[in-house]
Amino acid sequence: MDLRENDTMRSELLYRSIADRLKLQIDQGVLRPGDRMPSLRSLQHREQCSLSTVLEAYHLLEQDGWIEARPQSGHFVLARSSPTVRLVSEVSIDGRISQILKDLGDPRMISFGAAVPSDSFLPLAQISRSLARQNRAEDSHRYEDPRGNPALRRFLAVLHSSRKRVYDEDDVVITNGCSEALFVSLMTLAQRNSDTVLVESPAYFGIYQIIELFGLRAIEIHSSPSTGVSPEDFARAVQMHRPRAAILIPNFSNPTGALMPANAKRDIAAIARAEGVAIIEDDIYGDIFYEGDERPPALLAGGDASGVLCGSVSKIISPGLRIGWAISKEFGGRIGATKRILNLSTNRLAQAATLDFMRRRSYEIHLKRLRTTLAGLSARYRQELVKAFPHAEISRPGGGYAIWVKTESDTQQLSALSREHSISIAPGFLFDASGEHRRCFRMNCGLEWTPRTRTAVETLGRLYREMDP
Ligand SMILES: Cc1ncc(COP(=O)(O)O)c(C=O)c1O
Repeated sequence: MDLRENDTMRSELLYRSIADRLKLQIDQGVLRPGDRMPSLRSLQHREQCSLSTVLEAYHLLEQDGWIEARPQSGHFVLARSSPTVRLVSEVSIDGRISQILKDLGDPRMISFGAAVPSDSFLPLAQISRSLARQNRAEDSHRYEDPRGNPALRRFLAVLHSSRKRVYDEDDVVITNGCSEALFVSLMTLAQRNSDTVLVESPAYFGIYQIIELFGLRAIEIHSSPSTGVSPEDFARAVQMHRPRAAILIPNFSNPTGALMPANAKRDIAAIARAEGVAIIEDDIYGDIFYEGDERPPALLAGGDASGVLCGSVSKIISPGLRIGWAISKEFGGRIGATKRILNLSTNRLAQAATLDFMRRRSYEIHLKRLRTTLAGLSARYRQELVKAFPHAEISRPGGGYAIWVKTESDTQQLSALSREHSISIAPGFLFDASGEHRRCFRMNCGLEWTPRTRTAVETLGRLYREMDP
């Protein structure tokens, strides 16, 4: 690198950090919407830098919609209708979820509100054979090792290792689904009723429910339906609120289907490491990619940040098996101890059967088939949703089961009306604590495409059009 390149880099770092400090002042209300920004000269004097560096900083703020330049008057703070970082002191969401969970168990309902595949896409016959084979073992009814079946832990350690982060059996704890993995991770890492944790908005409601249960404060960061959380927002949130941990779904988020780009994963991991924030990564959908040939790597696979990788077989083999995992080099031992105190161990037979199936070639074949099926279904559901909701913004996921639809009205009414037609959707107010997403809903694209599901999508569109404005 020659001297000129060095100077350019230094100047870029400088104007970015000036811009970041100004954003912080706007976020904290020191500078309010309508306020005049400091003049270029005064800022230059304050920051002891060149005029062009200050101009670059203002340019960046203008581009990102924080300020505007008014001819002959200077720069002014803009009102941000939807701030990208919000602190929620008391999360209260659990009460909103019960109806959705009730609908899930109702066979008369068309479950567009869930994030699950039709049974016909799951390898149910194969897993039943694995269960029967393992049930013959004479020790199948004993307690399992609290951290889980050692062979399954070895298998998962190898499966999730990367060049930069190699796991071994001691890093893996088997849990009751991904839900328990998230639960024990947060329980281990965050102090109840005092810590602050960072969470995406929108994000899977189960994460908000745990935060509520533990009395934690949440920092909601805006998550884009295509690329998830941005490193800039992440850095800003961390600087402002110093959270203990961040819970992220970088691969095919629920509810939007967003996939965080590789460079954003790398930048966020670097910020987390530098600022001492542990990442709890929910990677439950990582295996269900349907664009390209390779699984998108986990954020933690880069080896930079410390944290816990959480996942389960619920979306790829069977949600009823209740087999999940929490994998962590740094915290595996402590998470294992939390899990032991919580419920001694996870179902022994289910663990043995999961391993029995995952080791077979038929597992890989099943995954490939599932990906192809979902690619087709996701495109089909999206196409029909575009017809049914012509004015909505509809996400275009490259994996997972969720499509996110942003309409022009509150979707709670649509949810209530569609229930009367035995159709469930997941209204947007389930997916954050501050109710930012009331005009959205999550749609499951994992259900078989049949005349019944097709009519149901059309019915949703009709009900929406007939709703009171
Ligand atoms: C992002 C995410 N995490 C966790 C879970 C819970 O998974 P499990 O059924 O394995 O507990 C879900 C279920 O929908 C999910 O979408």
